[in-house]
Amino acid sequence: MLWTKSLETGVAKIDEQHKELFRQVDILVDRSQADRIEKTLEFLKSYVAKHFADEEYLQKINNYPKAEAHKKLHVDFTKTFKELYDKYKTAGDRKLTVVLSINSAVIGWLKDHIMVHDKEFATYYLAKNQARK
Ligand SMILES: [Fe+2]
Repeated sequence: MLWTKSLETGVAKIDEQHKELFRQVDILVDRSQADRIEKTLEFLKSYVAKHFADEEYLQKINNYPKAEAHKKLHVDFTKTFKELYDKYKTAGDRKLTVVLSINSAVIGWLKDHIMVHDKEFATYYLAKNQARK
């Protein structure tokens, strides 16, 4: 799996969901699981939405000052993912190429997003919830 410890934010729920996203994305390029591609893409679509909603909720209830900007990043990626998904649906015999580009797009986006934006929120969240104790 392409998830590494350096991607850990320290917020257990978020980290678990990130790991699951990486696990699912891995299936897309696993030739022994080629029959699961379509199902995996559908799962990813709903799991990404759930994950974003959970993160946004966590930011909201913690009064995270950058919640709106963070949400915008999620909205943009949801749009990109939908476009790629639609491209896959209509790719005909080029489906494999599209799957590979979905795999690298999702991994690339996730890594950048986690390293910068999710970690920034995690720092805020952990400091805030530590202070409350
Ligand atoms: Fe996020």
